[in-house]
Amino acid sequence: MIRLPGLIDPHVHLREPGATHKEDFDSGTAAALAGGFTAVLVMPNTQPPLTDEPSLKQAQAAAKSKARCDYGIFLGAGADNVATVSSLASQACGLKMYLDQTYGPLRLEGLAVLRDHIGNWPADRPVAVHAEGRSLAAALLIATLYERPLHVCHVSRKDEIALIRKTKEIGLPVTCEVTPHHLFLTEDDVPKLGAGRGEVRPRLATAADRDALWANLDVVDCFATDHAPHTRSEKDGEDPPPGFPGLETALGLLLTAVSEGRLTLDDLIIRSHTNPRRIFGLPEQHETFVEIDLDAVWEVRSSGMHTRCDWTPFEGMRLQGQVRRVTLRNKLAYADGEILVPPGYGKDLSSVTHQQIK
Ligand code: NCD
Ligand code: ZN
Ligand code: ZN
Ligand code: ZN
Repeated sequence: MIRLPGLIDPHVHLREPGATHKEDFDSGTAAALAGGFTAVLVMPNTQPPLTDEPSLKQAQAAAKSKARCDYGIFLGAGADNVATVSSLASQACGLKMYLDQTYGPLRLEGLAVLRDHIGNWPADRPVAVHAEGRSLAAALLIATLYERPLHVCHVSRKDEIALIRKTKEIGLPVTCEVTPHHLFLTEDDVPKLGAGRGEVRPRLATAADRDALWANLDVVDCFATDHAPHTRSEKDGEDPPPGFPGLETALGLLLTAVSEGRLTLDDLIIRSHTNPRRIFGLPEQHETFVEIDLDAVWEVRSSGMHTRCDWTPFEGMRLQGQVRRVTLRNKLAYADGEILVPPGYGKDLSSVTHQQIK
């Protein structure tokens, strides 16, 4: 048995408000604890999207009464909230901008709105982007011109990680995350998964893209699940929405890579605890740790999971390394399959500023 610090997942969709049949703050934070995460940063592409004070208050109220682990809430950059969203910055873990088509209504069109959001958002608070291919180049340039730090979500391709390496080499404050599914799956897995279940943004890429992520891990700041639950029937139905659940498989996949010598435990701790905490200015969670059995071999089964979506793209995979117990703020929160803290135990980490935690 070994101890890890509480893991932080900087990219999670909990579907509340608006689509709680897929997930809510209760089921999603239970899944987080079962996966070894003691804090999740949740995305604003809900219904309604989190772009103004009433929608943010709705999410905050749901989280306060239902979350079992700690959390931060992202605000969404919309077409109409450039002038108002920055006044809410102190209540959020960051601003999320969607530059490409994905699930939800938050895609930004055009150049001016992108420039205005980056320019108006407080310079010391994080901006995270969904930006693929040439959208990434645009986001990097604007952040550079306005001297703003930028966090790039779910980097999936060789050309993108190369661009991020180049940006870091000239000293610009860009950070990025990769997902376990882009590290462990490729487009060759889509036929097995089925077309609907294989839908995810960014798409599963080539083996060369996957290999480039592994080869450039030194410029990857964070691991992020992009836990994006849609129900099994939605994924198998007409017009399947993109997204994979990931909270309950991420650590097992990464520990399997550790057991194979492809990753060290330090590599994992830096990307799943140290860096997310630093980038998003989150306070240290005291007396918080995860106990891991490094030798336990287990088979992924969606049937035992806490997520509401009832499927996983990793079904049947044999993994080595398993979460046994999670202690959150000196309370045993998870042990061997059981969630031991009630809804409402989780705290909002969003509003703590960088200054307060130093
Ligand atoms: C995400 C979702 O379902 O909310 N889907 C996805 O395929 N990743 C949206 C996103 O993160 O782009
Ligand atoms: Zn995205
Ligand atoms: Zn996402
Ligand atoms: Zn720490």
